[in-house]
Amino acid sequence: MKEILESLEARRELARAGGGAARVAAQHKRGKLTARERIELLLDEGSFEEFDMFVQHRATDFDMDKSHVPGDGVVTGWGTVNGRTVFLFAKDFTVFGGSLSETHAQKITKIQDMALKNRAPIIGLFDAGGARIQEGVAALGGYGEVFQRNVLASGVIPQISVIMGPCAGGDVYSPAMTDFIFMVRDTSYMFVTGPDVVKTVTNESVTAEELGGASVHTTKSSIADKAYDNEVEALLQMRRLIDFLPESNTADVPEIPTFDDGERMDMSLDTLIPQSANKPYDMHELIAKLVDEGDFFEIQEAHARNIITGFARIEGRTVGIVANQPLVLAGVLDADASRKAARFVRFCDCFSIPIITLVDVPGFLPGTAQEYGGLIKHGAKLLFAFAEATVPKVTIITRKAFGGAYDVMASKHLRGDVNYAWPTAQIAVMGAKGAVEIIFRADIGDDDKIATRAKDYEERFLSPFVAAERGYIDEVIMPHATRRRVARALAMLRGKMLENPWKKHDNIPL
Ligand code: HXC
Repeated sequence: MKEILESLEARRELARAGGGAARVAAQHKRGKLTARERIELLLDEGSFEEFDMFVQHRATDFDMDKSHVPGDGVVTGWGTVNGRTVFLFAKDFTVFGGSLSETHAQKITKIQDMALKNRAPIIGLFDAGGARIQEGVAALGGYGEVFQRNVLASGVIPQISVIMGPCAGGDVYSPAMTDFIFMVRDTSYMFVTGPDVVKTVTNESVTAEELGGASVHTTKSSIADKAYDNEVEALLQMRRLIDFLPESNTADVPEIPTFDDGERMDMSLDTLIPQSANKPYDMHELIAKLVDEGDFFEIQEAHARNIITGFARIEGRTVGIVANQPLVLAGVLDADASRKAARFVRFCDCFSIPIITLVDVPGFLPGTAQEYGGLIKHGAKLLFAFAEATVPKVTIITRKAFGGAYDVMASKHLRGDVNYAWPTAQIAVMGAKGAVEIIFRADIGDDDKIATRAKDYEERFLSPFVAAERGYIDEVIMPHATRRRVARALAMLRGKMLENPWKKHDNIPL
């Protein structure tokens, strides 16, 4: 018996050794951890239950029958993060470069099926060279199976991808269909085709970093939601993110104990809005003062910074925050900001996360670049996302809510549940000067007349009260009482029931 136990332990040791000491050392030398080291950091200590440790590929071409490593380049299983179950797979770059074979794919799809059946989040840690070249079409089939499961799980369980090394070819599309992608600076990159193919096809010379590094994907392409300086930080932040997320679309949002009183007032908010309407202020300050302990997990913070999206908590329960940022482009809505916020709103709506919308928006960004870039359809995405969302929606207009952007930003007309405005709010079709120059075109050139008319317009329309007179605003509130008002609104909305008409699915303007 002892021998049998020892032989099991020996087999386990072999599997745990991955591609061997030399390849592990090379991995470390590049500043990367091994798949198992990553899992240890991500999960609660001792909680990892591994599956399929002894799975081996069945390929025979190119002498592959002479080369087997138990586990076949991916470590899979489940464990807990702060006591809550998550499923995961971690590509092992030390084994065939983490490349995907038929059996490697089967290990992943087994975990995807289990995560979906048991309604718990799934996390993929990527560090791989794409399809196992020796296997050809069997690897392509494997990818297809993974992709199909990504789609079926979308909107049912949270799916998270962390890119911690190369991620190319077939490996990029599974992350692309998950809810969030995170990267590690300097050691990770993502592209469909690498620098060599790019050179051959388009004659462009680029490095891997220039083509698909973390900075490209968090700023330019917006493929990745955030980048971290190193793997340890990335994995610890994933634990923090998981704490915000419900297990599935039928689970309630997590609730954690908080010492931050929902009744807390913040008198400094009464002076947040500058005297001049054209002066910016930092919407992050309002977010920090509004949410529990100022704890905010920002999503896509480096892209389209004129809108802020992320998770926070009010009275211990997760909320999604969508906020115009007056500090960047005056908080205007452009194509990038609209797409960014629309995707975030839809994630929240999938997973029953209430949405708090903080509004200070001068409108949509004019110009040929925006119009040619499809602003109409991108703006419509955000409009569509807010309008279809059935989760509790609490909206605060702090200053400007002009034009179509007023409607879009979770207005009463898009089924906002509780819509408040600060006394500094200006809810109107446009700013005073623009409005007066259109209505009183004949007066242009007579500066005094235009100034008087603009003042009249401001007094009449640039306030929250015209909207409040119509019930578009439920109440004009004191800025210092914002947290209390929002907390009470969310508590009242806990039993909200709202369903959209039956449909196979909607047709959001993609
Ligand atoms: C089999 C692979 C592999 C692959 C790497 N390896 N990629 N084995 N299939 N796709 C192996 C290498 O042979 C090597 O084995 C080990 O992994 C480490 O690779 P290196 O090249 O030494 O590492 P490095 O210099 O860091 O380069 C990493 C890399 C490079 C940039 C990822 O390996 C590479 O370009 N790989 C090929 C990428 C690729 O073209 N993949 C196919 C994409 S097509 P040893 O034994 O020496 O340690 C695709 C289509 C699917 O994915 C589409 C589905 C929709």
